[in-house]
Amino acid sequence: MPDLIEGAVKVLRDGGLVAIPTETVYGLAADADNPLAVNLIFSTKGRPAGHPLIVHVASPKEATDEAWQYILSHWSRDVSPAALSLAKAFWPGPLTIIFPKAKNVISEVTGGQETVGIRCPNHPLAQALLNQFGGGLAAPSANRFGRISPTSAQHVREEFSDAIMVLDGGSCEVGIESTIVDLSRWDTHGPVILRPGAISQQMLNDALSKAGVIVPKLADEAADHSAPRVSGSLSAHYAPKTKMFLYEKEQLEDLLKSHTQPASKIAWVHFNDESLTLKKLDSYALTEIVLPDSAQLLAQQLYALLRQLDQSNYDAIAFEHLPKGEAWDAIRDRLGRAAIGSGII
Ligand code: TXA
Ligand code: MG
Repeated sequence: MPDLIEGAVKVLRDGGLVAIPTETVYGLAADADNPLAVNLIFSTKGRPAGHPLIVHVASPKEATDEAWQYILSHWSRDVSPAALSLAKAFWPGPLTIIFPKAKNVISEVTGGQETVGIRCPNHPLAQALLNQFGGGLAAPSANRFGRISPTSAQHVREEFSDAIMVLDGGSCEVGIESTIVDLSRWDTHGPVILRPGAISQQMLNDALSKAGVIVPKLADEAADHSAPRVSGSLSAHYAPKTKMFLYEKEQLEDLLKSHTQPASKIAWVHFNDESLTLKKLDSYALTEIVLPDSAQLLAQQLYALLRQLDQSNYDAIAFEHLPKGEAWDAIRDRLGRAAIGSGII
């Protein structure tokens, strides 16, 4: 493994790309201080210019305020007490913090905005690489723009040709992208969650209030025209090529009728108690996929499942709506965008 890391460091120093495992999804990494290398990420992904990238940083040996301050001040001109308490509570981990950027951060990374997203990933291979590399790594999810994020090395290989070096760190433990919290507009908006993830609003609020930071109310984002651009916030994203719709139990029959022809091949993805409905649906070629009851497990398996369904030549994917509650919010967000991105609406 040390040889592999050394090889990856060399590729990065030479301005190349390396796909890296993180606990959320695999990232497509480049030296965050090298404009040409960062541009290569955009051309490889087919990502439109102007979408900012997250910079990944190494974890300090001892996670003190001073250590985080030292690391973060390279990237941000204002490392607030709120940011330090979130860093200490959740890093390394599935949280990205948006900061006001420091002067030296290149515009290829920030998409020309005055802010920069930073994350310290919790995966031993990513940390080993970051430590040995010694700088920040700009890394979006390692998929083609708009498509499903990869949660295994094999998924990355399916997205890109063999030309990209992939560090194989197994399957991602969390399985969906990091929570993004914007602290750059604190004075006017307080903390704003730009993308839900495994770190919930409740967890963020608890950490801030435990640290004695007063949390102002969240801004009403819908009415907020100063909001930064986030490609994960485009309504069509994370999309399978097979059309996919979400249904409430009682709607399944009607939705199947309106979205598909009789005898269509349908992937019927649902939670555990649907056996009675099946009888009414025998004019379709249904394949049942039963989902785990835990949000954590489903997040872990979600993208691999969508990829597998996408490769199985179904005419449509019928996906049961998720249970209510904060634990399911991040998956609900991804599924909603995946359904829109699949062209169903
Ligand atoms: O879990 C993750 O966050 C993964 C792993 C690889 O770390 N990365 C990831 O990157 O999901 P990406 O590029 O696929 O999504 C990052 C999102 C994008 O929607 C981008 O617009 C947003 O973060 N973002 C990055 N920098 C930002 C900034 N300065 N202001 C607002 N949004 C930002
Ligand atoms: Mg992405």
